[in-house]
Amino acid sequence: MEKKVYITRRARFNAAHKLWNPRWDEQKNQEIFGKCSNHNWHGHNYELHVTVKGSPNIDTGYCMDMKDLSDIIKEFIEEPLDHKNLNLDVPWMHGKLASTENLVIEIWNQLEDPILNYDCELHAIRLYETENNYVDYYGGQ
Ligand code: NI
Repeated sequence: MEKKVYITRRARFNAAHKLWNPRWDEQKNQEIFGKCSNHNWHGHNYELHVTVKGSPNIDTGYCMDMKDLSDIIKEFIEEPLDHKNLNLDVPWMHGKLASTENLVIEIWNQLEDPILNYDCELHAIRLYETENNYVDYYGGQ
């Protein structure tokens, strides 16, 4: 049996959003989301941890070259999200509430296939919205 290891790459981006449910009126949005529902947006410095699972390659000793993982995260996550408005600028967030929970699921969907090209699989995504709040996702249900 090949031993599996888990490697993690960190990335950072900042982005604007608001939490707003179009099915609710102003008052209900205020009540549920508080200042996060501010019409004129607010921003976060997000921190993303992408963990990939695989076996060390016999020739390189790598599960996946960190440079390749870093390039994938740049192309599929940092470029589309950094300095953007999550509600308006990101096609794969359209029509979704821009919570950390929803964002982490959509980030998984963006990264899963590109990582499969490397004899590795995506294991976990951790997304910090603030220093104190983060969401983990392991795929599936
Ligand atoms: Ni927010």
